[in-house]
Amino acid sequence: MSAIPDPPLSAGPAVLQVRNVVKRYGGMAAVDDVSFSVHDGEILGLIGPNGAGKTTMFDLLAGSVPPTAGRILLNGANVCDEPAHRRISRGLGRTFQIPRPFPDLSLLDNVMLAGQDQAGERLLGNFLTPRKVAAEERAARQKAMDLLDLVSLTRLAEEPARILSGGQRKLLELARVMMADPRIILLDEPAAGVNATLLEVIIDRIREINARGITFLLIEHNIDMVSRLCHRVLVMASGQLLCEGRPDEVARDPRVIEAYLGGTAA
Ligand SMILES: Nc1ncnc2c1ncn2[C@@H]1O[C@H](COP(=O)(O)OP(=O)(O)O)[C@@H](O)[C@H]1O
Ligand SMILES: [Mg+2]
Repeated sequence: MSAIPDPPLSAGPAVLQVRNVVKRYGGMAAVDDVSFSVHDGEILGLIGPNGAGKTTMFDLLAGSVPPTAGRILLNGANVCDEPAHRRISRGLGRTFQIPRPFPDLSLLDNVMLAGQDQAGERLLGNFLTPRKVAAEERAARQKAMDLLDLVSLTRLAEEPARILSGGQRKLLELARVMMADPRIILLDEPAAGVNATLLEVIIDRIREINARGITFLLIEHNIDMVSRLCHRVLVMASGQLLCEGRPDEVARDPRVIEAYLGGTAA
């Protein structure tokens, strides 16, 4: 379809470094000695057949589960012993394959709540006056409205999240993760279950956010989306890193084709 994106000019030092990471569940290694880096400003794809270990890798990066071995460095700091919320405040954002917004809260409140932890930490530290609290609340509301605008959901800001379609939930999730000012966002299958029209909006919004300097690591089965968005792609199979390269290179790599054909269909 469209040409492969050029690597971003800003692609620089590693935001995230994964070094010999292993995750065992019982006798089975879901992630088996994987190493890679995500560079500042890039959109890096992570593909592979079902069961390859992609979501487990996200769980490890985000701090939802501890690694059995290896190191994970975020902006140079080893974060393996840090809980998920510390990694969020270090600039790591993550969206889920199946977003679960608070169904009865408005879109605006859903986005504002995503930034609450940060504000809460500041409030405790500074003993803000009620007037300052109100000012913070106004600023947070404005920021949330700007983010809803960014993901084209402004007109639904006061509606409850339960009315959203699957694709709109993915967009809301993107606005929520942006509320914490991430430097890198891990996206788990943003195209899954999304209709063609909304998919174009999602691709466009990811590009726009990337153009603001935010790095992405993207798990996705939709190969068209991967080749349109990603500067570079990693392929996992059976817990290991099979290869890496430009989207067109990995798509015709015989090892990749075999992994998809041999695996439990992607
Ligand atoms: N919490 C868990 N307990 C036991 N096995 C798990 C757990 N999470 C993932 N696995 C296993 O690890 C392997 C990789 O799974 P996953 O990371 O979800 O793959 P992918 O996202 O690439 O489809 C699978 O065999 C899966 O069954
Ligand atoms: Mg998965």
